[in-house]
Amino acid sequence: MSSFTRRTFLAGAASVFHPITARKGLGYQPATAKATIQADVPVGQIRPELHGHFAEHLGSCIYGGLWVGKNSPIPNINGHRKQAVEYLRAVGIPVLRWPGGCFADDYHWRDGIGPLEKRPRRVNIWWGMYTEDNSFGTHEFIELCRLIEAEPYIAGNVGSGTPQELRDWMEYCNYPSGSTLSDERIANGAKEPFGVRYWGVGNENWGCGGTMTPEEYAGLYRRFSTYLARRQGSFGGIRPYLIACGPNRNDTDWTKRFLETLGPRGARLTHGYAMHFYSNGRSPATKFTVEHLKEQLSSFAELEKGIGQQHAMLRGFDPEGRIDLLIDEWGVWDQITQEDRERYGALWQQITMRSAVAAAMGLNVFHRQADKLGMGNLAQTVNVLHALLLTEGEHCIRTSTYYAFELMKAHRGRTSLRIESDTQDPLGLSMSASRSGSELVVTLVNPNHDRGMSVECQVTGAGLGRASARMLQHADFNACNTFENPDIIVPKNHPVEATARGIKAELPPLAIVTATVAIS
Ligand code: AHR
Repeated sequence: MSSFTRRTFLAGAASVFHPITARKGLGYQPATAKATIQADVPVGQIRPELHGHFAEHLGSCIYGGLWVGKNSPIPNINGHRKQAVEYLRAVGIPVLRWPGGCFADDYHWRDGIGPLEKRPRRVNIWWGMYTEDNSFGTHEFIELCRLIEAEPYIAGNVGSGTPQELRDWMEYCNYPSGSTLSDERIANGAKEPFGVRYWGVGNENWGCGGTMTPEEYAGLYRRFSTYLARRQGSFGGIRPYLIACGPNRNDTDWTKRFLETLGPRGARLTHGYAMHFYSNGRSPATKFTVEHLKEQLSSFAELEKGIGQQHAMLRGFDPEGRIDLLIDEWGVWDQITQEDRERYGALWQQITMRSAVAAAMGLNVFHRQADKLGMGNLAQTVNVLHALLLTEGEHCIRTSTYYAFELMKAHRGRTSLRIESDTQDPLGLSMSASRSGSELVVTLVNPNHDRGMSVECQVTGAGLGRASARMLQHADFNACNTFENPDIIVPKNHPVEATARGIKAELPPLAIVTATVAIS
């Protein structure tokens, strides 16, 4: 079976509406959803990087969000907001992409090193024409990554930069000592090299990264990458993982033309190919309509289809599978209100129960397609788009999406398992399953706002033992954690039943349930 046709088994579990099974007092009509987990049929390893994140110099993501400055009255660690560091460290950020986004192709790394008072002030042309004082630069980014134990991913400037600028940044970061650039890093306070492995060669070069054709970008990619990855050796012995700009959503024309021009020689210097996939929303975050809710959540079926098609094209070009498909920006992008923009900065949106359901559906897609994906970075970590944390002054709260990631953290590093279902309904039960040793982890998501689901999940290929579950749920898709009430949506224990044949759970509307089951 080809990897693409397998998608038909995985899209969403059967969801059959049975009014007569409505239970007293529930206030909604449950439907029965059936699926089978094949515990002895591995799909692939769920790389921890599939739960990655992205932080850009945009709105209040960095300045005022992650970075408050060393002299701030807000508790901080060397300028990094202490509460944010603690929350992010707790949820685990396997990889963090920086400094953009669109910002990356107008960023010159030398602006962000050396004594603060000497760093130039530049205008951020992409996100509001405000002046950027460059107080958060490479050293601060690496320090943040170390504080939260994230692998750094630097997105380089192709749109307005040069191959020399990017290879110098790599030398500055990774060469231990003895060259002028590495000694400059040491003089700037970092004796140990930064060991940065992930390097993006541009961002959205079909758009803000230079408005290029795929042929133009492929030519530039070949030129830039020549100076970044050499067979003869690499800076500090760190073999760089070079990431090429892929399509917007499932743009097959971009991929076809890019790969044709890249050719086999360019392919040898390519390790990741990054697609961006946003789930746009036609309402402001807390004022979603039912129609817009359904429309946005249905986009995850398109994401899954896009992964299948892009991966098939990549494998057609690179049958040995040396180039990974990545999703290095994804998440919900709602209508941003003027009031929110003025109060909190560009691309600030509230994060609701709908956003959490979307995050969990996205992660379920990544798990199911684990054999095809190398990374997935939610956009963006703090105060921008699909954020894990929101800040206002000294306040820093965990959003519903933070808790969705927390609930699904147990899948990281495990083996994704095959799931069978006989429906294609994009709003049917969304699920993923993984195993490691004697434990099975299953995440079930009910994306419906108006009906519960009685989930009957048969498990083949393993015997089941004790089970427990946690749930994140709120019946109102516009509900959210606020600075005044930060605990409106938090996970709690939820009953789950494991029998000899499988798992049974009741999912209220808009519920994310992760069950952990002992297996033999
Ligand atoms: O995440 C916000 C923006 O979305 C990024 O800067 C850009 O890459 C994408 O269009």
